[in-house]
Amino acid sequence: MTVKPVFTEAAPVERPDDLPEAGGFLADALAGLSKPQKELPAQYFYDAAGSDLFEAITTLPEYYPTRTELGILDAAGPEIAALLPARGALVEFGSGSTVKLRRLLRHRPDLSVYVPVDVSAEFLHSEAKALRADMPDLRVEPVAADFTRPFALPGDLADLPKAGFFPGSTIGNFEPAQAAALLARFGRVLGSGAILIVGVDLVKDRTVLERAYDDAAGVTARFNLNLLTRMNRELGADFDAARFRHRAVFNADASRIEMHLVSRAAQSVSLAARSFAFAEGESIHTENSYKYTPEGFRALAAQAGWSPVAIWTDPQALFSVHALRRD
Ligand code: AVJ
Repeated sequence: MTVKPVFTEAAPVERPDDLPEAGGFLADALAGLSKPQKELPAQYFYDAAGSDLFEAITTLPEYYPTRTELGILDAAGPEIAALLPARGALVEFGSGSTVKLRRLLRHRPDLSVYVPVDVSAEFLHSEAKALRADMPDLRVEPVAADFTRPFALPGDLADLPKAGFFPGSTIGNFEPAQAAALLARFGRVLGSGAILIVGVDLVKDRTVLERAYDDAAGVTARFNLNLLTRMNRELGADFDAARFRHRAVFNADASRIEMHLVSRAAQSVSLAARSFAFAEGESIHTENSYKYTPEGFRALAAQAGWSPVAIWTDPQALFSVHALRRD
């Protein structure tokens, strides 16, 4: 019996790499907690509990990005889809659910191949199965890979015109220099002439931003504090989550929301036979979420070889969707 593989293990590509390499959860936690300003990479938020909490965040009244981006994709769907190549391939970076993609495919039913790229092979498989059932004419070619690492597309897509899709303002989690490196990487993967559709959160009033990351129901606080619980469970740390509090602040100079876990008291925590001391008020910096002006993001994209094609925003200018072209 032959079993058709459900996803392609990305072939390693040899290329110098300008994005920092993840050292694994323990190594990253030890390195981050050893810095003068303690920090943890935001990628570790997303264990099963963290993914559920993030899903809950996306429906909070204060968290405008998800619903606003969906509104833009609905309103501008026909225009955005018109930029995607007919009988081409659409590559989605860090695909997660197919909710946003479906908003575009509605207007581009003649797309040939959809390539979701995601680290979670399990999630990829279930989403791909559902999409194949709903769109039998679409070839779905999941690639199990970390899109921040070099990876290759299935070889037989080489001759197809390509577009990339990177919604959700995930780009905001990267330092601007890393974001540019990532956009350049997407350009190399997609090739010249490709179109890239990117969702980017906009700079706005501090109050609106800070509420979006510190909601009244405390869901974002739980999402942030879950990192401590995860380190206890997976790394054998002994954090007392009750002795830390969530803090979200807009750093206007850096144009980013910062999330921190602030120690409520002087305390020490052990991890892998090492002890980490916290002064009262000392924090672990857990996330940056960069906010851009339309011009600022275009300038960043230009550094990475992408030219502006179009931009769509909502009536309140909360969120933006950019279309870019690689010459
Ligand atoms: C998934 C990175 C886009 O930055 O808005 C939400 C993550 N953190 N609330 C964001 C997040 C706290 C989110 N991104």
